[in-house]
Amino acid sequence: MSSTANDVNAAQIEHWNGPAGETWVKLQTRLDAQLAPLGHLAMDGAGLRPGESVLDVGCGTGATTLELSRRVSPNGKVVGIDISRPMLSFARQRLEAAGFPQTRFEEGDAQTRRLSEGGFDLVFSRFGVMFFADPVAAFKNLRAALNERGRLSFVCWRRVADNPWVAVPMAAAFQHIPQPPPSPPGGPGEFSFAERERVHDILARAGFKDITIEAKDMLVGGASLDVTVDTTLAMGPIAAALREADPVKREPVAHALRQAFAPYENADGVRLGAGVWLARARSGNQK
Ligand SMILES: C[S@@+](CC[C@H](N)C(=O)[O-])C[C@H]1O[C@@H](n2cnc3c(N)ncnc32)[C@H](O)[C@@H]1O
Repeated sequence: MSSTANDVNAAQIEHWNGPAGETWVKLQTRLDAQLAPLGHLAMDGAGLRPGESVLDVGCGTGATTLELSRRVSPNGKVVGIDISRPMLSFARQRLEAAGFPQTRFEEGDAQTRRLSEGGFDLVFSRFGVMFFADPVAAFKNLRAALNERGRLSFVCWRRVADNPWVAVPMAAAFQHIPQPPPSPPGGPGEFSFAERERVHDILARAGFKDITIEAKDMLVGGASLDVTVDTTLAMGPIAAALREADPVKREPVAHALRQAFAPYENADGVRLGAGVWLARARSGNQK
């Protein structure tokens, strides 16, 4: 998908087709290991049955799409949709290795793409729904893809303060380099769904019914101190700030991150708190 100035999500399309998408592909094994238990919250909470059809929104490199395919097999159908070419290309390679003939990946903007109307039992996402320029329009579009029994189940991040895995390294790194300005309130971004009321309002305005939004907490982190520091330097707000900073700052930032993460190291690696919303709803598309 080549973005044009007219694409409502042009900036995000550019972002996820640039270094962000490439880095995600490079680090996918460790990212999937960290995020899997959080994605499982939204899968386990969706009441999935074999034979059902699922839309995986912002499916990225496809780990969740394949796990959903396993859960609805043998007769179920899963479509993963994403705007990132490098991530989809990796997802397709994984699909080829895994089988699942009824699963496919589609390149497209989930906010605007015409999706098979009423074709899905479940709209699912693991951290793929916080990047829409117009979230109400996007969720209306997603609701239209659900049948009358259709459900929505996704996880998104709560506030930075509820996520020590982000807050702790940010506090350490931004003593050495300037912190980038926060994204405008309500604009697309990793933490744009941090406020429960906002998420509820978006889903209600999009027409969803029986909305529940629950706080869930888990521990996440890399398999070792080295891996955790390396990942933090490679992606997210600290990586973005480092790209703008004097290259000599990289070493002191890496050192500060090591010191900040060290108290959270245990036999499993590094583990810090992660706070998400598990949002679920019904389509309300009764005929
Ligand atoms: C944080 S990543 C999560 C990827 C994947 N769900 C996972 O958990 O591994 C966010 C994903 O959302 C995708 N995305 C962002 N805006 C999108 C849009 N408007 N339509 C479809 N996908 C989008 C990005 O390309 C990226 O793959």
